[in-house]
Amino acid sequence: MSEKRRFGILTGGGDCPGLNAVIRAVVRTCQFEGGDVELVGIRNGFWGLIADRLEPLGPVHVSGILPRGGTILGSSNRDNPFEFKGTIDGVPLAGDVSERVLTHAARSCIEGLIVIGGDGTQDIGHRLMLRSRELGHELGVIGVPKTIDNDLMATDRTFGFDTAVGICSEAIDRIHTTAESHHRVMFVEVMGRHAGWIALHAGLAAGGDVILIPEIPFSVRSVADAVEARRARGKGFSIVVVAEGAVPVGGDPVYRVASDGSRRKSLGGIASIVAEEVERLTGLETRTTILGHVQRGGTPSAYDRVLASRFGVCAAREAIAGRWGTLAALRGNAVVPVPLSEAVGAQRLVEPSGELVAVARATGVRFGDEVSEPPPA
Ligand code: F6P
Repeated sequence: MSEKRRFGILTGGGDCPGLNAVIRAVVRTCQFEGGDVELVGIRNGFWGLIADRLEPLGPVHVSGILPRGGTILGSSNRDNPFEFKGTIDGVPLAGDVSERVLTHAARSCIEGLIVIGGDGTQDIGHRLMLRSRELGHELGVIGVPKTIDNDLMATDRTFGFDTAVGICSEAIDRIHTTAESHHRVMFVEVMGRHAGWIALHAGLAAGGDVILIPEIPFSVRSVADAVEARRARGKGFSIVVVAEGAVPVGGDPVYRVASDGSRRKSLGGIASIVAEEVERLTGLETRTTILGHVQRGGTPSAYDRVLASRFGVCAAREAIAGRWGTLAALRGNAVVPVPLSEAVGAQRLVEPSGELVAVARATGVRFGDEVSEPPPA
């Protein structure tokens, strides 16, 4: 058995630009500051611990990965060890397999895990750590906050968000030219789950005329009024940026329909519904673009590479010091470890009366909650 201290590292949930930058920063910090530490990579999120798929992870494996999107370790947003359903090596498994996970970690002499993921992944990491204490395994966990949605409570910013906003604002800029040339109302649906951060930032950056976010329920009449008022002011086109989780007043979010006709858990489709209604109410021609996974793909922005590296160094230093149970978080301008428990159980949402929404309103952006459009000047 190895005399070295050994940490596991995994990426869970949807992929996100900057995952590889975190992995690289952890590996290199352990290389230069970790002494006798060695790392093992866990394949496909928690699935790798359920299936016992671990592999050595050293400097040679992270060479050249800083600008690469996705994750060299693979990821999964399905394999929750507390509610597992699947087949491992031909054997069907179902239910709570957390003890199996802890046994695999202990057998591989893993002192603790560096868990890179969003709220669902951090919740699982936190529960695993508590479960291991109950069973006397003492597996440590340190979290790194990832998601393009920017909705983690414990940190002012997650890595991946800046890249997603950049991709969305560039797409909206491009859609602007068609909107203008064809005098159309163009709807652009962006991701973000139940938080409107991507829509708000991208809408502001690219000059959206209407921005619909989950935190401010909208009425279709109000959206129609906004585009008609622009038309009356001589603006023959409008851009409506719609968060996938946007909800009409008194309504529910729209979920994708799976091929078997059932509703999937993933959001999507609200922009097309609103666009059709606005066309019916105004007689103006509408088109809808759903940006989808292009928002998560490709190389991370420079900002995200830096933030991901800062998170990775913070997490590695916490692990080397044996301070488990923390999450690397951005607080103001500083990256600091905070209790992992702060990352679970609640989402960070846009404040409807906050500064960013006020800035947008001051510059004429409508949110679909306005009661009536003032008469054109
Ligand atoms: O959490 C990131 C995210 O891209 C959300 O914005 C989106 O709702 C969801 O993941 C999509 O998940 P999937 O890739 O499973 O369709």
